Amino acid sequence: MKILCIDIGGTGIKTIVLDQRGKPVSERLRSLTPDPATPAACMKVIGEQAAKQPAFDRVSVGFPGVVRKGVIYTAANLHPRWVLHNLKRELEKRLHKPVQVTNDADMQGFGAIKGRGVEMVITLGTGMGSALFVEGMMVPNIELGHHPFRDNQSYEDLLGKKGLKKLGRKKWNKRLRQAIATMEALFNYDRLYIGGGNAAKIEGALPPKTQIVPNIAGLLGGVKLWTQRKAQEAVQ
Ligand code: BGC
Repeated sequence: MKILCIDIGGTGIKTIVLDQRGKPVSERLRSLTPDPATPAACMKVIGEQAAKQPAFDRVSVGFPGVVRKGVIYTAANLHPRWVLHNLKRELEKRLHKPVQVTNDADMQGFGAIKGRGVEMVITLGTGMGSALFVEGMMVPNIELGHHPFRDNQSYEDLLGKKGLKKLGRKKWNKRLRQAIATMEALFNYDRLYIGGGNAAKIEGALPPKTQIVPNIAGLLGGVKLWTQRKAQEAVQ
């Protein structure tokens, strides 16, 4: 079974084809996310990339917002027209293959976790994504990014792309350490994984139990949406 994994981000749209064990069987393709990032504009980019990729049997999509049963409920960093859009149905029509859609941080999490204990994942990119897993089972749509963090600002306001630009690298790093402390106090995780394009901007040592994961995890997690399908559907 070959799976086309699609990662829709606020800045880039990426695709890769993986085999059932998560081994890439194609190059990763990346295009800039269209601006405005309407469903139609993003669909065009996905269609172009899918046509360049080798044959696949299934599709997994990580979407940067709340997703339930293939329907989009929020899209803070894309276009409001995404809200209530049935992405699963539309992609199945266009690509003629079964599609699973999940939150992008949840998909990234599947690519990063070990499946033991309480594992948390955050992604630092255009927005801030978050995911929580208990013994490998996902708690879907944890939206820590939009939760108040400090000074009337959300985690995403301070740690997302805009926050990094406004604060500068040094202060952003300081805020990240503060956020990690509040997350640890709340979730008491066994492990915290940090992914996303801006994880590369982290400077200095991280607290214990914390590790950076390569950005490709965002796509690699796509395999589990099929191999753990029953579990995934049960919680969505
Ligand atoms: C969205 C999340 C998403 C994160 C990273 C946030 O703005 O609300 O659903 O995971 O950005 O893309």
